[in-house]
Amino acid sequence: MSVAKKEFKKVTTHSLQEMKTAGEKIAMLTAYDYTMAKILDQGGIDVLLVGDSASNVMHGHETTLPITLDQMIYHAASVVRAVDRALVIVDLPFGTYQGNSKEALKSAIRIMKESGAHAVKLEGGNEIKESIERILTAGIPVMGHLGLTPQSIYKFGTYNVRAKEEEEAKELLENAHILQKAGCFALVLEKIPAKLAKQVASELNIPVIGIGAGNGVDGQVLVTHDMMGMTHEFNPRFLRRYLNLYDEMKGATERYIHDIKTKDFPNDKEQY
Ligand code: KIV
Repeated sequence: MSVAKKEFKKVTTHSLQEMKTAGEKIAMLTAYDYTMAKILDQGGIDVLLVGDSASNVMHGHETTLPITLDQMIYHAASVVRAVDRALVIVDLPFGTYQGNSKEALKSAIRIMKESGAHAVKLEGGNEIKESIERILTAGIPVMGHLGLTPQSIYKFGTYNVRAKEEEEAKELLENAHILQKAGCFALVLEKIPAKLAKQVASELNIPVIGIGAGNGVDGQVLVTHDMMGMTHEFNPRFLRRYLNLYDEMKGATERYIHDIKTKDFPNDKEQY
């Protein structure tokens, strides 16, 4: 399938801006380990997010809150080692930036220095503006994240669509402008009405990447384990699965066990 695509040897924050200007959609996926990151990068993905969704899909926690800065750095360093082309962005985990901009800067510096990543992402609007501004003073690019922000799940109480009501929509729009003005190079919008997301993307100059935010934004992101069908109990409307790896891998495991139990594996050609 041929699509209009700008050729970047290495994707940078500036490339994303160029893509927005050229009307080319940005493709982003999550990655947490070397092998997966290698496949996605070789496949031509523009951006890899070392998301704190690692807390769910890699560590088995119910929320993103438990994952630590050390654990995020461990995942990020593995991803960076695999990547030739993609821009690698890392989530600052819960408790490492809220309410203390000096700690935010320290956390962001640790991520950049110890993992070799290219940018960080923080959840929230006006309330974290000071943290964003301080991180930017060190020359670290920052991506914002509004709408459903999973680190605040206990405030929201549910993973339902955000900003459906006028007041919350207005607040989100204001926060999007605040983040752009503060210096964010891009913004993620999670699980909000498509009409609102389209308005944000058209009002902002910076690229807006959506997850469950419709088609009127500048790019899309999904959690790779969901998109590849490795998870199978999470079925939000916005998720398009490109493979059913859960069943494929479970089936392969069953066939492997069968072959061992029946003494079929290894055969004569599979030994020394
Ligand atoms: O942690 C994550 O995977 C994310 C994406 C869902 C945007 O923040």
